[in-house]
Amino acid sequence: MALQIGDIAPDFEADTTEGRLRFHDYIDGSWAVLFSHPKNYTPVCTTELGATAKLGDEFAKRGVKVMGLSVDAIDNHDRWLKDIEETQGAALNFPLIADFDRKVATLYGMIHPNASDSMTVRSVFVIGPDKKIKLTMNYPASTGRNFDEILRVIDSLQLTAKHQVATPVNWKRGEDVIIVPAVTNEEAKTKFPDGWKEVRPYLRIVPQPK
Ligand code: BEZ
Repeated sequence: MALQIGDIAPDFEADTTEGRLRFHDYIDGSWAVLFSHPKNYTPVCTTELGATAKLGDEFAKRGVKVMGLSVDAIDNHDRWLKDIEETQGAALNFPLIADFDRKVATLYGMIHPNASDSMTVRSVFVIGPDKKIKLTMNYPASTGRNFDEILRVIDSLQLTAKHQVATPVNWKRGEDVIIVPAVTNEEAKTKFPDGWKEVRPYLRIVPQPK
């Protein structure tokens, strides 16, 4: 069965552009993003990897470790990385797995045989400090992902973990949030001493906690 939200992200050891790494050691109690790329030397992947490198400070600010995956060999990765730096204006600042034998891609269900049996789709896994999967996303090879959306989900997940608030439709960092239903009004008085707006008893709005 496909990996689902709440499952432990499977551990693995793999060759990467930063040497041989064990995934659970690499993430080491941090938040993490693991994402796959269909193939080296393809245009959409090139733009995505450059964009992710440019967002390095944003991931670091949120305490997120990033790891990419492509089903090509390590020497092929090394040459492609030079292209990414030249064409996208950013050098890779996170490890890219050389999943030549597709072991990790298979473990994480990143190959969808009805799309392609040789390339991965564009999968994203956001993993919490407890090593549990918090988000899964699969995009087709031809559609580049929106990494601002990935950061937005991480912001939401981190707010929920820390403050027991949820985020409404199209929420963006800094906008009002919702007190989760599991928090009673009695508990909410302690957590949100400045009060909240009760649109309905089940819809309680508060400013985003800092
Ligand atoms: C790309 O990364 O550009 C790509 C890969 C596979 C199919 C289509 C596009």
